[in-house]
Amino acid sequence: MAEEKIIIFDTTLRDGEQSPGASMTVDEKVRIAKQLEKLRVDVIEAGFPMASQGDFEAVQKVAATIRECSVAGLARATIADIDRAWAALSEAADPRIHTFIATSPIHMKHKLNMQPDQVVEAAVAAVRHARKYTRNVEWSAEDAGRTDMDFLCRIVEAVIAAGATTVNIPDTVGYTLPHEFGDRIRTLVERVPNIAQAVISVHCHNDLGLAVANSLSAILQGARQVECTLNGLGERAGNAALEEVVMAIRTRKDLLPFQVGVVTTEISRASKLVSVVTGFPVQPNKAIVGANAFAHEAGIHQDGVLKEATTYEIMTPASVGLTDSRMVLGKHSGRHAFRDRLEILGYELSAEHLDRAFRRFKEVADKKQELFDEDLEALVDDEVIRETEHYRLIRLHVASGTQDTPVAAVEMDVRGEKLRGASWGAGPVDAVFQAISQVVPELKEMRLQLYQVHAITGGTDAQGEVTVRLEKGERMAQGQGADSDVIVASAKALINALNKLAHKRGRPRQGV
Ligand code: KIV
Ligand code: ZN
Repeated sequence: MAEEKIIIFDTTLRDGEQSPGASMTVDEKVRIAKQLEKLRVDVIEAGFPMASQGDFEAVQKVAATIRECSVAGLARATIADIDRAWAALSEAADPRIHTFIATSPIHMKHKLNMQPDQVVEAAVAAVRHARKYTRNVEWSAEDAGRTDMDFLCRIVEAVIAAGATTVNIPDTVGYTLPHEFGDRIRTLVERVPNIAQAVISVHCHNDLGLAVANSLSAILQGARQVECTLNGLGERAGNAALEEVVMAIRTRKDLLPFQVGVVTTEISRASKLVSVVTGFPVQPNKAIVGANAFAHEAGIHQDGVLKEATTYEIMTPASVGLTDSRMVLGKHSGRHAFRDRLEILGYELSAEHLDRAFRRFKEVADKKQELFDEDLEALVDDEVIRETEHYRLIRLHVASGTQDTPVAAVEMDVRGEKLRGASWGAGPVDAVFQAISQVVPELKEMRLQLYQVHAITGGTDAQGEVTVRLEKGERMAQGQGADSDVIVASAKALINALNKLAHKRGRPRQGV
């Protein structure tokens, strides 16, 4: 008997972006969407078009770019939201309108101030309106995990009758336990007479660390779509992690006899891209994509793996796209080798971006003998992510030591004008930030929310990657910079964040 398919609905660009500090520019979203297409997820939820002009543009651009996946846009249960979602989605190869309304007593009373009958009416009207545009309509019962079961059955039946082709059951606040959530799905299968006319979807949050377990429990009871995000990004504690759901199904076929279309060898690259773009590092012991997920430290384990990998490995590193990242390129490597390696790593660069990245590669290779894949990825991300630069670092000089007050002098290109600044600081990084704030006075009105350094590869000559998060009013931006000198990487990260913040002008963030 053919295995039933589990539809993988990725919401990294919508729910994932709702993680505080994870906002992305339109171009960054398109980049991630292209990687999601390579990963062969079935549905990409690209954003919430009514939330802001930026969200609208991102959904529109992703819809116009992606051909191999369905693209969804989120809408509340209102005519205006649905019209706006459709306006953004209409160029998609397979557009999906995803409309939602809260159904739990707590949400209906305190958030919506609506009676249950009014909620059913609004949900049905929203689905009917969405069906005028497309037959691919998903409806979600927000806070379904805490919704009265009789009411959930009633409203699910009504929206299916109105034309919803997917009904999504979110555990919005991550409250349920796996057996309890699975029971909810089974009850819907048993009690909703027209349930076979729609796909049952689940969308689990991770507040109790149970999002993946709840999703798997749900598919065992009849759910056939799982909503998830790369690296488990998402509101609060995040959503079910795509890589964990997919690899659990692949690895435990004996107990989860389902098929998923995801190209698992693209998982590692997709995870890294999301981490670089959002500046959210992946914890080393994170399942599937953490740096230690396939590392064996104990002697007994190493010995076992050398004799027979399956002694301690339940899946192979290669199955999630982890290639051997031993030294690949050095300062004698040419442009062709550089381009070929980038292609293997999944980059498709324009001639101009390739030139820039290659120049940067030569600079780094002069200082660092061995360049690992991670180094190449960092330097390409560092060069290519900077699309629209208002601010550019030309020169930086820093002096510090045990006896001296740290000082920094900076020369920058600010919208075509060369400007200089100099300052002292509590430490060299502080001195650099103060010097940059002389050139970019707006920096003084911003709050530094996060400053983080990590070494991309091992050794004292490793490249350092710095992440900086800046906040100004309602806007927030995160910048990254990579260099073998962490002070230079810090300046680059700060300037990258300034560029991103400039890009975000007039785009206040608004979540669901
Ligand atoms: O968590 C949730 O309930 C959601 C819905 C909008 C699907 O994100
Ligand atoms: Zn959610």
